Amino acid sequence: MAEKTEMYERLMTNVKGIAGRPSSQEEKLQAICDLLKSAVPYFDWVGFYITDPENPEDLVLGPYNGAPTEHVRISLGTGICGRAALTRRMFVVQDVSQETNYLACSPEVKAEIVLPIFLGGQVWGELDIDSHTLAPFTSEDGDYLGRVCLVVADIVRQS
Ligand code: SME
Repeated sequence: MAEKTEMYERLMTNVKGIAGRPSSQEEKLQAICDLLKSAVPYFDWVGFYITDPENPEDLVLGPYNGAPTEHVRISLGTGICGRAALTRRMFVVQDVSQETNYLACSPEVKAEIVLPIFLGGQVWGELDIDSHTLAPFTSEDGDYLGRVCLVVADIVRQS
């Protein structure tokens, strides 16, 4: 098995282990951020944005691991996160300098991947990952991160 596949298979086992812990939803989501950031060398900021139940036109910052960001609330359609939520699709940007509708977290960020997390057909939130490496993401990242998002949806459903 290729090295990256092995790494992701181990990671998935650990993500499912976190999901089964008797801890709060917030603690589990934080543990998943911590795990992803430490397991994948080109993941430099890993966090969740959650649809505001009071105002579903906005995403609010949830648990994260990485540099603090000023973007604690993002409107649908704004930036990469707001566009991923609006289109309900994974959004991969291999070079953020090419994006005009982009909210910079830090000047070191070169690439970003955002995946929506669905609950009952609605975008419950999303997983957002920034990288300081240019063009680091492969289709394998997208596939496994999609699986992580399914586990997150289960965590939320069971909370
Ligand atoms: N870059 C994101 C904003 C969130 S920060 O990356 C943490 C965007 O353009 O939506």
